[in-house]
Amino acid sequence: MGQRQAIIAPSILSADFSRLRDEVVDVVEGGADWIHVDVMDGRFVPNITMGPNAVRALRPHTTVPIDVHLMIVEPERYLGDFIEAGADRISLHAEATPHVHRALQVIRQGNCLAGLALNPSTPLGVIEQVIEDVDLVLVMTVNPGFGGQVFIPAMLSKVRKLRHLLDEAGASQVPIEVDGGIGVATSRAVFEAGAEVLVAGTAVFGAKDRRGAITDIRRSAEGRPVAAGEARRL
Ligand code: DX5
Ligand code: ZN
Repeated sequence: MGQRQAIIAPSILSADFSRLRDEVVDVVEGGADWIHVDVMDGRFVPNITMGPNAVRALRPHTTVPIDVHLMIVEPERYLGDFIEAGADRISLHAEATPHVHRALQVIRQGNCLAGLALNPSTPLGVIEQVIEDVDLVLVMTVNPGFGGQVFIPAMLSKVRKLRHLLDEAGASQVPIEVDGGIGVATSRAVFEAGAEVLVAGTAVFGAKDRRGAITDIRRSAEGRPVAAGEARRL
């Protein structure tokens, strides 16, 4: 087994919306592994962001996976639209529909990878009956709705327990994605706890040097020395 590698997924929620394409190209050139698209409906969360049109518009401008995070009620109503728009991965919230199992299947039938997202207060039990139906599990490390919030430390033990649960169930290939408050200061702890996919909004798009920010988050996650200080990026 080789060394585990971190996957860095900048969230365009914190990008400059007036030049989204350039922002995506910039972070991909800077080493982003995936592009994370936060979809909010003003009902599941208080905020409203973007829909399938944004995915469709960005799709031709990058070859990296587009990782769609649906923070919307009744996500099953829109899965087809996001699949057609060119999403590679779609995560829906366990709290947002009574039909998680069916929704995950619809995503896979659309040749996308299916993710299940859990709010901070949602117990891990919901994952147990759908382990075979998920390609990734997204653990919210803040309450969904806004970028720039503070990482919730109690989520570290949740990630650890989830990693154990997945491994015990023979799903060691299923990655854990963490989302919210991730940056150089938190990436090591979440990675050690068992998360590989690190979503970062503010920590990447808030930095002048996106490549530097992505490199530092990746290096600190993997326990490698991080060059210089915050100063060179801000
Ligand atoms: C929060 C979103 C996150 C958010 C992360 O509801 O799901 O993806 O953009 O932003 P930061 O990295 O700023 O906490
Ligand atoms: Zn997200």
